[in-house]
Amino acid sequence: MFSRSAIRALAAPSSRLFSSSSARQTKVAVLGAGGGIGQPLSLLLKSDPLVTSLSLYDIRGAPGVAADVSHVDTASEVKGYAADQLDEALEGAKVIVIPAGVPRKPGMTRDDLFNTNASIVRDLAAAVARVSPTACVLVISNPVNSTVPIVAATLEKAGVFDPKRLFGVTTLDVVRAARFLGGVSNANPADTRVTVVGGHSGATIVPLLSQSSYGKTVTGDVYDKLVYRIQYGGDEVVKAKDGAGSATLSMAYAGAKFANTVLRGLNGEKGVVAPTFVKSPLYADQGVDFFSSNVELGPNGVEKIHPIGDLSAEEQKLMEACIPELRKNIEKGKAFVA
Ligand code: NAI
Repeated sequence: MFSRSAIRALAAPSSRLFSSSSARQTKVAVLGAGGGIGQPLSLLLKSDPLVTSLSLYDIRGAPGVAADVSHVDTASEVKGYAADQLDEALEGAKVIVIPAGVPRKPGMTRDDLFNTNASIVRDLAAAVARVSPTACVLVISNPVNSTVPIVAATLEKAGVFDPKRLFGVTTLDVVRAARFLGGVSNANPADTRVTVVGGHSGATIVPLLSQSSYGKTVTGDVYDKLVYRIQYGGDEVVKAKDGAGSATLSMAYAGAKFANTVLRGLNGEKGVVAPTFVKSPLYADQGVDFFSSNVELGPNGVEKIHPIGDLSAEEQKLMEACIPELRKNIEKGKAFVA
């Protein structure tokens, strides 16, 4: 049924998704581990050789997910924590991934999730500040453009905010961009990597196709459709799931991929660069102090924020649409905590 290469890939899944460098003791916590993203994300993190201990927390279901995932034959230890065990779950965590919160239903924007998810994320960030203030925090919960400033402001209030250790996970936009460009270029997505900058919702998602050798050859109607699909690809999934949620499997893949990137940086690997939404000086003079761009990761988290480079005329227009919306989303997050 399977080809020989497929069997090889299944036998060694971690070699395809993850790069590994020297092993260290690294405890990773997932907050929201019982959810649509949390479950497959926990499974993928169990397969990551850089994760030595996995701590799974949710207000419901995490011990069951942990028992299940713990049987996978990799070396890491897995433990599940119930609703009243958040502090125990966070104890000693070096990396904390947060997919807790409600997902979209058809017709909703990510901003429509703000009222519910803002307080969930704020309360989790307060616990991080209390128990594991030096951990790297990877925020998946939407709207990322607002939840990341919420986490930053909460940590800041507690006096423990380190901008090098807070990341909004925009990797799914990068994964989609490579996949969709691969589709229109008839090329392997491994060869059609695209830097995606800005934020993580609709018009704030700005793919820099002009900086990709395949991407710069795409023009006209095909270009417009490709950009739209990268910006609004999440809607395809929300619509197809028809009320049952948003992207979970591709998001888990993207979340595990980004967590592995952060872990490689923490382990001292050189030249680890990926787009992520961080506290950034790039557009701070326009009132946008969180922005996604290529970031070099290192032993302390953010090592260097790369400039976005040259933009085409189309990309300049996309950026003009991005900045005011992103500013609004960031301000909304800050105002919630203030
Ligand atoms: P889901 O509803 O399937 O799972 C969410 C989980 O969070 C549930 O198990 C729930 O019990 C848990 N939860 C709620 N409050 C909690 C709390 N205070 N502490 C710990 N856990 C708590 O939702 P799904 O599909 O997993 O999505 C989760 C979030 O991820 C949503 O906000 C969604 O919009 C976002 N998302 C982000 C993406 C990105 O690219 N950054 C892509 C797709 C979704």
